[in-house]
Amino acid sequence: MDSIIVTGGRELNGQIPIAGAKNACLTLMPATLLSEEPLTLTNAPRLADIRTMTTLLQSLGAEVTALNEGRVLAMSSHDMTGHLAHYDIVRKMRASILVLGPLLARMGQAVVSLPGGCAIGARPVDLHLRGLEALGAEMDLREGYVHARAPRGLRGGEVEFPIVSVGATENVLMAATLARGTTVIRNAAQEPEIVDLARCLRAMGARIEGEGTPTIVVEGVDRLRGATHPVVIDRIELGTYMLAPAITGGEVLCLGGRRDLVGAFCDKLEEAGIDVREEPEGLRVRRNRDRARAVSVETAPFPGFPTDLQAQMMALLATAEGVSVLEERIFENRFMHAPELVRMGADIEVHGGTATVTGVERLRGAPVMATDLRASVSLILAGLGAEGETIVNRVYHLDRGYERVEEKLGACGAKIERVKAD
Ligand code: EPZ
Repeated sequence: MDSIIVTGGRELNGQIPIAGAKNACLTLMPATLLSEEPLTLTNAPRLADIRTMTTLLQSLGAEVTALNEGRVLAMSSHDMTGHLAHYDIVRKMRASILVLGPLLARMGQAVVSLPGGCAIGARPVDLHLRGLEALGAEMDLREGYVHARAPRGLRGGEVEFPIVSVGATENVLMAATLARGTTVIRNAAQEPEIVDLARCLRAMGARIEGEGTPTIVVEGVDRLRGATHPVVIDRIELGTYMLAPAITGGEVLCLGGRRDLVGAFCDKLEEAGIDVREEPEGLRVRRNRDRARAVSVETAPFPGFPTDLQAQMMALLATAEGVSVLEERIFENRFMHAPELVRMGADIEVHGGTATVTGVERLRGAPVMATDLRASVSLILAGLGAEGETIVNRVYHLDRGYERVEEKLGACGAKIERVKAD
């Protein structure tokens, strides 16, 4: 397994290009199953998870061709050969569950392995199943698989989610586009990835209103056509790289960055004494004092502070002036980066969903271990500001969600290198 070695203490200056959003692409790709005509995605990120979703779609008979070094995904599901999403693929990536709604809508049936939990929590899919049942699907759980059927096709229905779920909203939204009649989704997720999916589906001929608000209304149509759609930029990658100069000092322009995608996060950065300026090319970030100020953060569904930026924010707050409190309200176990930061000299106490961070002057480099995608990059960020060398192991987590992280940071002056495992 590869490792990444970071030697801290260098200011970062320069530009970082932000790629297309992993979590948008992972729901846009299954949307190709909704139409017999080709769907082409541009500005696609080149990530391990995208390759996993490609394998899954191909196992169902769809054609997925990566063009322009993987930045363009030309897809066609004209010749579907199956409706089984096998455990071997699903266990590698939970987002595989997002083929369930499109398969039901297109084929009238689907057999999808239950994704199982992951490092950050149990990650159940009950809301996906309940939502699709409201559209007339019959669900049967057997031997670790969801056996879903809609023999008479899907019909529009009323879906009210008890808690906000990004994936369940995406599954129901995609299925509803081909259901007979009107579907109303209440307490829908409002993430930019949902808005991007709705825009793509509308380009395919779907009739959708209200995306980006808590209530989405879909008028089902008989069939969808093909389209070409640009993947929205990755707001989590954006926020991650905005924290790099916040931690090291210096000034970085995140190309393509837009404040509307990371509003709550930018508010917190500014409260911590970090300067954020929106320019035509992107978001320019500079720390305007010696040390960041402590701030308190509560994660919430969009437009709140993203849970996917909580670990990275903790890396900044570990050396901020004062005591910060981070409340993780989305996932039950998303502080695994905390003990690794403590190994680097951070002063962090975790009780349940609350982490109390007492800022120290500076962290010290150490060998640390990544446990999930965002924890990995949080340790890299911490290493950029730490004294000495930080070795982040198990970076395969990182490669799932971050393209060429050592190149992007290295181009701004970071001393960072990937060590290939033998
Ligand atoms: C998406 O996961 C993202 N993944 C996650 O990003 C992100 O952290 C999460 O949304 C929250 O923003 C993708 O888009 C591929 P949820 P998802 O359904 O859809 C509970 C990353 O690092 N829940 O909004 O799985 C769930 O356990 C990843 O890129 C149920 O109880 O998240 C969680 O506590 C990590 N039943 C809460 O809802 C369900 O059926 C929110 O989960 C579904 C979810």
